[in-house]
Amino acid sequence: MTAPGVDAGVPVLRTEGITKRFGAVVALRGVDIALARGEVLGLVGDNGAGKSTFVKIVCGFQRPDSGRILVDGNEVHLHSVKDARAHGIEAVYQDLALVPQLSVYQNLFLNREVTTLGRLGWLSTRKMRAEAKAYLDDIKVSIPNIEAEAETLSGGQRQAIAVARATRQNAKILLLDEPLAAMGAKESALIIDLVKDLSSNRGVSILVIDHNYAHLFELCDRVNVFQQGRVTFDRRVEETSLEELTELMVSEYRRQVMAGHVELGDAGTA
Ligand SMILES: Nc1ncnc2c1ncn2[C@@H]1O[C@H](COP(=O)(O)OP(=O)(O)O)[C@@H](O)[C@H]1O
Ligand SMILES: [Mg+2]
Repeated sequence: MTAPGVDAGVPVLRTEGITKRFGAVVALRGVDIALARGEVLGLVGDNGAGKSTFVKIVCGFQRPDSGRILVDGNEVHLHSVKDARAHGIEAVYQDLALVPQLSVYQNLFLNREVTTLGRLGWLSTRKMRAEAKAYLDDIKVSIPNIEAEAETLSGGQRQAIAVARATRQNAKILLLDEPLAAMGAKESALIIDLVKDLSSNRGVSILVIDHNYAHLFELCDRVNVFQQGRVTFDRRVEETSLEELTELMVSEYRRQVMAGHVELGDAGTA
């Protein structure tokens, strides 16, 4: 359901001409993306193509040199991660997000701002547990014991809790930078199911970076390819294929070899 006053046709997140350089390195050369409500958009591309930098800009961690960011059609100026959160934008970095010694339910309630630490004390433990349990059930994240300390969970479970916390605290745009890296099939499935549930049942819009095309096709509605700081390809997943994406990457790799940017046998395309 769309909030009153929000036009369903307007992308939840739009960027226009985002550029960023680090000294002599031009990381982003004018990135335009559009993310619809409840859409999952995958970002792929070689190492160094600018994907992570783009995510860091959209979550307020870094400032662009130029370009605009629009949320629900209105330009926003993100000077910090806190600013971005206030607009419902949140990047989830699995381990950084949780306090290892706190339980699952405490982590779900823990906010980064001191004001809500007050709320932690105010809410009864029983109520927190019940709400945490209800919310996790609601988004179909099964954690056997919500009393368990975060550090005892698997990587997939920790990632799921971090995502759950962001959305429980009203993130409407989630940014995930390689959320499935170093995860086994079962762990990946947990996150893939969660992303799908949040997008289709709760209207959360999700930007996800992943190198694994099989995951992307399972996860995403649409894919954007980053090449040298630009989006060079934008397709719905049903309008492209594993073969087409692979071919794009291989030809980019060949181009870079020809240009002398990478050595043959370099792991640069990983
Ligand atoms: N903090 C930084 N300082 C200097 N260069 C950076 C910094 N962050 C990224 N870069 C450079 O910007 C380019 C894009 O990097 P990145 O956004 O990490 O690409 P990707 O995530 O697609 O692999 C690379 O050349 C990288 O070395
Ligand atoms: Mg990266």
